[in-house]
Amino acid sequence: MTITAQRFLITKVGNMDTKQQLEHLLQLQAEARLGGGQDRIDKQHAAGRLTARERIEMLMDPGSFEEFDMFKTHRCQNFGIGETVFPGDGIVTGHGTVNGRIVYVYAQDFTVLGGSLSETMAQKICKVMDLAMKNGAPVIGLNDSGGARIQEGIDSLAGFSDIFLRNVMASGVVPQISAIMGPCAGGAVYSPALTDFVVMERLNSYMFLTGPKVVKSVCHEDVTVEELGGADMHSTQSGVSDYAAESTADAINYIKRLLSFMPQNNLESPPIVPCTDPIDRHSDVLRDIIPANANAAYDMKQVILETVDNADFFEIKEQFAPNLIVGFARYNGISVGIVANQPAYLSGVLDIDSSIKGARFVRFCDCFNIPVVTFVDVPGFLPGTAQEFGGAIRNGAKILYAYAEATVPKITVITRKAYGGAYCVMSSKHLRGDINYSWPTGEIAVMGAKGAVEVLYARQAKASGDAKAYLAEKEEEYHEKVSNPYLAAERGYIDDVIVPSTTRARIIKALGLVQNKRDSNPMKKHGNIPL
Ligand code: HXC
Repeated sequence: MTITAQRFLITKVGNMDTKQQLEHLLQLQAEARLGGGQDRIDKQHAAGRLTARERIEMLMDPGSFEEFDMFKTHRCQNFGIGETVFPGDGIVTGHGTVNGRIVYVYAQDFTVLGGSLSETMAQKICKVMDLAMKNGAPVIGLNDSGGARIQEGIDSLAGFSDIFLRNVMASGVVPQISAIMGPCAGGAVYSPALTDFVVMERLNSYMFLTGPKVVKSVCHEDVTVEELGGADMHSTQSGVSDYAAESTADAINYIKRLLSFMPQNNLESPPIVPCTDPIDRHSDVLRDIIPANANAAYDMKQVILETVDNADFFEIKEQFAPNLIVGFARYNGISVGIVANQPAYLSGVLDIDSSIKGARFVRFCDCFNIPVVTFVDVPGFLPGTAQEFGGAIRNGAKILYAYAEATVPKITVITRKAYGGAYCVMSSKHLRGDINYSWPTGEIAVMGAKGAVEVLYARQAKASGDAKAYLAEKEEEYHEKVSNPYLAAERGYIDDVIVPSTTRARIIKALGLVQNKRDSNPMKKHGNIPL
């Protein structure tokens, strides 16, 4: 059913008795809930996509959603659009609860003019964002839109800009999460990009600045919608998306899980949940997890799973830069952000992508009072022209900056390598790490023993007659004297060398120790993170 401007305006409520007025209201609500009409709802379903209201229903606790501005309409008269007015326009906005906690939500309604953004829709979005900011609750945006409403021109662009401004103002004040459940093109992508987390539906969604046709005409490249801006690309290559969801239900569950680890706003602490996992649980797996060969890989995820409550780790950006693992977990019911080098992928080296990934995650945790637990096994920064040309210096500095400026509790466990600049970066004592532990297998040095002796003894090795044996002996000596955790422990840069199997208990104790931590940075407008 299409509700035209004419029908919507000529209703004369003044002539109705109370019963008729009520019936009239219910009729208007029913019509508004049809969005762009049953035909377009059917089309949306046939494309395997839910409507805006169905998505909101899936997200919110049953019966908790209350809608704002259901009858707000657009005012544009250009290109005949004044003849077609849909109550609520192309967006459903309001508030409700998710697992008992208030959230504000907006969901673009593709059945109304392709969910294209009008001045009116922007006003509706801004209203919920302003309320969320004032009242300290997260904002969830469910995106499915053809971008700026073409008929409106500047009014639509102004609307987008108003939203962008609020995204920026809300950043670090209330959590903002975006789900991409349909098209998201043009400048419209920047609103999700400004939010804290982005989840994309694998089969239905895409995000790009310009579509395949423009790419073909400008760059002479043939590319499909999925290749250019699909969920898989954004979750593995660009890093725009934190998760490629298999379905709408999967995307919604991801949002709910995310919310469960976060406080409502930057003035609160994350919720503490009852812990059913013994806090002093030892792990024999950790005793033997480090391979005898220092260059052999092992799976750092296992270390994380062995130590966190109930082996429950919620990984973020799992497919992007897997050499660094980031995600949320709990220790004794306390939410933490975990950052860990992954020796099982590229030896856990830090590179451009992993530095950006880690920096952004640490900064999120710092905004929202979530302690950061860091597991370190890192051979250094990835060398090579590709990295240097790509700005490894500028980008590597991001993670350093993020750790240094973070004032949340920071607990660090070095499991094996902590070489060179990467030692400094990974939540070291020098960057205000609160409690820094190492396993006895820790190797804290400028570089690995092999590389070190090759630099130091190249001339002597050549002269010795048996370079290999000479270097092997020196390597052994370097290991003994330098590549261990005890030099750092002697200087107090490591607070203790701990028994690996007790790691969980030690982290929980450390978190308890720093739970009332107060630290600050010098007064300034804001820092100038290397972007
Ligand atoms: C007005 C729009 C619209 C738009 C879609 N519609 N996009 N109306 N403004 N931007 C309308 C269509 O006319 C159609 O109306 C209905 O929505 C459904 O669209 P279809 O094309 O039939 O759907 P589909 O085949 O699924 O294709 C979806 C689409 C396509 C890929 C999104 O509609 C499309 O390419 N739209 C234009 C995308 C675009 O270029 N947007 C501007 C981006 S620039 P009827 O009445 O026929 O059902 C931008 C600048 C933002 O956003 C800058 C911010 C700073």
